[in-house]
Amino acid sequence: MKIVEVRHPLIQHKLGLMRRAGISTKEFRELASEVAALLTYEATKDLETVEEEIEGWAGPLQVHRIKGRKITIVPILRAGLGMLPGVLDLIPAAKVSVVGLQRNERTLKPTTYYEKLSGRMDERIALIVDPMLATAGTLIATVDMLKAAGCKRIKGLFLVAAPEGLERITAAHPDVEIYTAAIDQRLNERGYILPGLGDAGDKIFGTK
Ligand code: PRP
Ligand code: URA
Repeated sequence: MKIVEVRHPLIQHKLGLMRRAGISTKEFRELASEVAALLTYEATKDLETVEEEIEGWAGPLQVHRIKGRKITIVPILRAGLGMLPGVLDLIPAAKVSVVGLQRNERTLKPTTYYEKLSGRMDERIALIVDPMLATAGTLIATVDMLKAAGCKRIKGLFLVAAPEGLERITAAHPDVEIYTAAIDQRLNERGYILPGLGDAGDKIFGTK
């Protein structure tokens, strides 16, 4: 299982700002997108490229192009939408497969309420984006859905992950690659990550 805690100073700094109590919606939203862009840079480091010949200003030359079909970004509604702009900043031509899952606050089990995937999922790399990986119920259900659609290479980008969730995704889908800005301490009795960020969806959308 590939689990990367991306300890880049810019990411650590921005995540530290996001953890402050009373942070505004505007600032949280901006930072979520900025950290997502930095995670995208790290998570795409190993993409394969192919050489192609182009006509340059001084004549023909060989350049590199990312191999294969366009990546599909998979934001998990609703909080994953907060990371989407940052990922699209770096991969503007990506396809977007939107999925909607919500965790029941009592049972912590996710329910799927929306699914609109890109075509040819079997030929694309999928980049799941969601700020929080807590129990991993939401992530496991999303990966099940992507694999059922034929997806073979799946990476997940998170702002904060809990050790309990990382253990569960490793057992359920060891082939998925995880990139997270932080691996925090633990889950509390309500399934929230400690120290975490609180309710990421509420902070991104200004609800509650
Ligand atoms: C949050 C978060 C993840 C999920 C993580 O979403 O954005 O999708 O919980 O928890 P898990 O790992 O225990 O499944 P939530 O269900 O609160 O919905 P929202 O994005 O609509 O706020
Ligand atoms: N969802 C959140 O928004 N925060 C958590 O800590 C766990 C799940």
